[in-house]
Amino acid sequence: MLSHLTIRLATRADAGAIAALSRDEIEAGLPWTWRAPRVRRAIDDPDTNVIVVGPPGAAAAFGVMYYAEDDAHLLLFAVHRSQQRRGVGSALLQWLEDAARAAGAQRIRVEARMDNEAARSFYSERGYHERTIVRRMYSDRLDGVRLEKWLRT
Ligand SMILES: CC(C)(COP(=O)(O)OP(=O)(O)OC[C@H]1O[C@@H](n2cnc3c(N)ncnc32)[C@H](O)[C@@H]1OP(=O)(O)O)[C@@H](O)C(=O)NCCC(=O)NCCS
Repeated sequence: MLSHLTIRLATRADAGAIAALSRDEIEAGLPWTWRAPRVRRAIDDPDTNVIVVGPPGAAAAFGVMYYAEDDAHLLLFAVHRSQQRRGVGSALLQWLEDAARAAGAQRIRVEARMDNEAARSFYSERGYHERTIVRRMYSDRLDGVRLEKWLRT
C-alpha cells in the first residue's frame, strides 16, 4: 500500500498523457475514441472531474467522472501498467467517491468489458454491483457489464 500519493485535478497539459493511457490501457483493440481534444473538453467541462497522479504531461493514472442529476458516471479510469496493484487505483477511486458524495450524488455508475477481470474484481471488491450485461457494448463487438454503487440509501 502507498504511504502517500498526490492526486490533483488535471489541466489541459495532461490531455495527451491521459489520451495515451486510455488508448493503451482501456481502448486497446478498439477504435481510439478518447483522443486529446475530447479529453481537453472533459477537463474544461464544469460537470466533469478529471483527476491525475503524476507530473504535468506525464500522468501515470487518471479518472474521469461526469455528473448528471443524482448520478455520477465514471467514464474512464486507468493506472499505467507499471504502477498497477500498488493501491493507486484504490486511492483515485476513493477521491472520486468522496467528491461524488460531497456533490450530493446518490450513485456511481461505471462500465467495463466483460473480459476485463482485473477491473471487475477491482470494482466488486470496492462495493460495486454488476447490474446488467450488455452484448456488443463496445464497437458493436465486445460485451460489457454495467456496474453501480449506491452512496446513500
Ligand atoms: C482496474 C485498475 C484501475 C486497478 O488499478 P490498481 O492501481 O491496480 O488497483 P489497486 O492496486 O488499488 O487495487 C488492486 C486490486 O484490483 C484488482 N486487480 C487489479 N489488477 C488485477 C488483475 N490483473 N487481476 C485480478 N484482479 C486485479 C484486485 O482486487 C487487486 O487487489 P489485490 O492486489 O489485493 O489482489 C487497473 O488494473 C487498470 O488501470 N486497468 C486497466 C484499465 C481499466 O481496466 N480500467 C477500468 C475500466 S474503465
